Amino acid sequence: MNMSLGGADLVSMFEHELRMCQVKAGETVLIFTDPRFIHPEYPPAAFAAARSLGANVYILVSQGDQRLEDDLVRAAWKNANLILGMSMLPRGIGSWMYTDTHNAALGAGARVLMVQEPLEVLKRMLPIPETRRRGLAGAQRLQEAKEIRVVSNAGSDYVLRKDGRTAMYQCGVADEPGRWDHWPSGLVTCAPLEDSAEGTYVIEPGDVLLGSWRYAQSRITLHLEKGRIVRIEGEQDARLLEAHLSRIGDDGAFRFSHAGWGIDDRADWGHIGMDSESLYGTVMVSIGRNIFKAPAPYCGLGGSNTSEAHFDICCRNTDLYLDGELIIQNEQFVAKDLG
Ligand SMILES: [Fe+2]
Repeated sequence: MNMSLGGADLVSMFEHELRMCQVKAGETVLIFTDPRFIHPEYPPAAFAAARSLGANVYILVSQGDQRLEDDLVRAAWKNANLILGMSMLPRGIGSWMYTDTHNAALGAGARVLMVQEPLEVLKRMLPIPETRRRGLAGAQRLQEAKEIRVVSNAGSDYVLRKDGRTAMYQCGVADEPGRWDHWPSGLVTCAPLEDSAEGTYVIEPGDVLLGSWRYAQSRITLHLEKGRIVRIEGEQDARLLEAHLSRIGDDGAFRFSHAGWGIDDRADWGHIGMDSESLYGTVMVSIGRNIFKAPAPYCGLGGSNTSEAHFDICCRNTDLYLDGELIIQNEQFVAKDLG
């Protein structure tokens, strides 16, 4: 792993980030990566940064086709104070964050930070206290709610129930035992009950099909009954989405994973990635796997969808209601304390 010239900035950025994650001298930091990780300069930069803070640092390189199910990787993860996840594997289930090994590490008190966005995005959305304020306020409000309703001029009108389900926020910092986060990100989300979705979910051209890392070019209409996507209408993009979910083919591939909203006004819709899920006032409702448990406050989804699919969809110009109260209207927070 060679560090590029751009890596010079990275070491100080990782130092800054690790300080925010409360890395202390003598703590154990485990960097998890794989040979195909798209930013090979990140693990050595994080290694140098953690060393400079006096941590004991290890890099664990997965061969790339593993599913993190063996005793060695589980023991390593459970015994680290902070894990830096720099891998987009295992594919198919939406990454390592939806694995039992990840849940076990969080359960043992590890802090876990995902890092996989490009350098300019890490820099542009460096964590700030305002994102945590909006995130915590939003997660508290979402946790209390029993029903989410999403409406748009494009024709969306659907309801999700979340009775008994918790809510979480992301602010880009993993600084409490049992907390997972993703640097950079700013969003509030929860796992709706997997049998609850009812109505019509319309994805417009220009919305982000994050599961296939591109913008929708044509309208997609998802018809929802008893939590299941029972029909996908539209042209090319609808056929592609249907083919993707059908190829995976398990029941959970046609049920939702998580739903929520973005809270970072520094996000750029022109860049696909965490920008898409984080953009202030936009609504994301995602399909598939959601087994993700974390003991830290307002963290983890607690869902029961074990699908091999995980497909995030981020939509603009959408209204969101909680228990009948208008929270977001066309990307503006009507509930002022959440924005
Ligand atoms: Fe997701």
